Order: sequence, then C-alpha cells, then structure tokens
Amino acid sequence: MTDPVIDVHLADDHAARALATDARAGLSANPKSLPPKWFYDARGSDLFEQITRLPEYYPTRAEREILGDRAGEIASTSKAHTLVELGSGSSEKTRLLLDALRDEGTLHQFVPLDVSSTALRDAAAALAVDYPNLAVHGVVGDFTEHLALLPGEAPRIVAFLGGTIGNLLPAERAKFLSSLRDVLEPGEWLLLGTDLVKDPSVVRVAYDDSAGVTAEFNRNVLHVLNRELGADFDVTAFDHVALWDEGQEWIEMRLRAQRAMTVHVPALGMEVSFEQGEELRTEISAKFRRPGIAAELTEAGFEVTRWWTDSGDRFGLSLSQA
Ligand code: AVJ
Repeated sequence: MTDPVIDVHLADDHAARALATDARAGLSANPKSLPPKWFYDARGSDLFEQITRLPEYYPTRAEREILGDRAGEIASTSKAHTLVELGSGSSEKTRLLLDALRDEGTLHQFVPLDVSSTALRDAAAALAVDYPNLAVHGVVGDFTEHLALLPGEAPRIVAFLGGTIGNLLPAERAKFLSSLRDVLEPGEWLLLGTDLVKDPSVVRVAYDDSAGVTAEFNRNVLHVLNRELGADFDVTAFDHVALWDEGQEWIEMRLRAQRAMTVHVPALGMEVSFEQGEELRTEISAKFRRPGIAAELTEAGFEVTRWWTDSGDRFGLSLSQA
C-alpha cells in the first residue's frame, strides 16, 4: 500500500485567523450572520453525520440513490484518471464512484479536498487501505480559495456533492463555478449535486427535525466561537429557526436570542449585544431547478452532458464537461 500524501495549503493559524475575520465581520453586521463552514469542528461534523441519517433529511439518501444507479455511467462517460472531491467529509458516497472508476479501469488517483485536516486524514487513511492501487493525495484547503492547486493526472472528474454548492450566495456560486472551469482543462468533468425545489414543508422539516439534531448542529457554531475566540455565548439561550425564503428559493437557518444579552468576544476585543428575538443567520441552503442550474453551469463555461434525479425527484446530479 502507498501511504496517502496530504498537502496542507492552509497555514496552521489560517483557520483561526479566518474565523476571527469572519466572526468580526458577521457579528458587527446588521443583520448578524456567520458563514456555515464554522459548524464543522469534530462535534459539528459528527452532528452532521447524524443529520444524514435522520428520517426527515432526504438529500443524502436521494443523492446516494442516484450515485448507486449512475456511478457506472459516470465512470464510462468520463473515463477519469483522477477523482477530485471537494468538501469530501467522510467520503462514503465517494466509494460508489471509486468502485465504478476502478471497474472501468481508468482510475489512478483520488484527491480529497477539505478544510478539516482531521476528517481528511482519517478518510484518506481508510481509503488507502481499501483501495491499495490508488494514489491518495489529500489537500487541506478551502474550495473557494485553493482550486488552482488541485493535483492529479487528466482527465479529472471533480465531484462536489451533497448540495453544498447551495451554501454559497448566488454571486459566490457564479464566481466559484467559473474559477473551477478556469482550472480545468477542456474535456475534464464536474459532477455536481444540487438539492431541488420542492414542497416547502418537506424542506422545512429536513432543516428542523423532530429529534432536534439540526438545532444542536446550528447552535454548535456558538460553541466553536466560545472555544476558539473565548466568547461567552449562553448557547442554551438561542432558539433554532429554519425559514423557507420563497423568493430566493433557499432555506435559511438562524439562531434567535431568547432574551436581550451582551456577549463578550475577547479574541476580537468585541462586545456584541443582542435584542430579545434578534436573529443571527448561520446558513443558507439554496434549492435548485434544472433550467436554473443548467444556465449557471453554461454561463460558467461548462457543457451539461447528463442530468439525473432520484425516483422522488428530490435531488439532481449533473455531469458537465469543461
Ligand atoms: C452539508 C451543506 C449540504 O445544506 O443541507 C444540514 C448542511 N445544514 N442540515 C445542507 C446542513 C443543515 C448541508 N450541506
């Protein structure tokens, strides 16, 4: 077995500095907000894994159904030598793609990219054991910043799964897609998972489950600020809110202060006051329609080659070529 190689494109203090910058900007803004990437410390990643198993949270199962049906077709169409996975997390669904590309006989390399070095190292080590002929080259980085550094022999297929693209605002999404297009050679591939617009009540419960796991996941960002920035958020004094925005077609998660309070954030030298009922936005998760996402991909310079949905038409997976 070849040991996995891990490139670290984030300096050790990068995450700490980026969190401080994001928290300073977000907590001084009106309305207040924080970027969703700060949910994912070890506890947050574990809570997200629990979310993927909740009866209400359909996206993971819907996307897995599509990959289960289509991985062979994805492999035979792309004949990729390298699988790049952005925001790879636990990479369970990745195995469906790795198996299909291995069976196709074209696969040489797997390049998972994630901001979390622990998640990446664990996943890379497990995959290196199960795929002894595969060169695993992990990259610790941010998919909005480190695309130019992606290694791997062409043709590569870049998988961006789970609907995570929905966490970007429309302008950020456009910028991300065209930067990705720019770092790919003509003929390379993008496999993109997008959650679809559907009855808002279905989406709402997926982001506000009856067991309260999503509420804990949402509040976890305050634990992260307490630990990393020495903040004194009373985490129990915030209610979880999941709100469907009909105009934007996205679900928004917020944390609502139960009472007026002042929070100290020593690492930022800030005091942040909340009015009773004031809300802090922690995530948007946009839902897509086929013509809309196809237009965005085309605008970024991709040619959409295939489009699949699950049997319930809840989730879409597109295969595009640069
Ligand atoms: C991992 C970003 C795809 O937006 O559905 C799950 C995160 N947030 N429940 C999503 C999430 C609330 C998830 N993504």
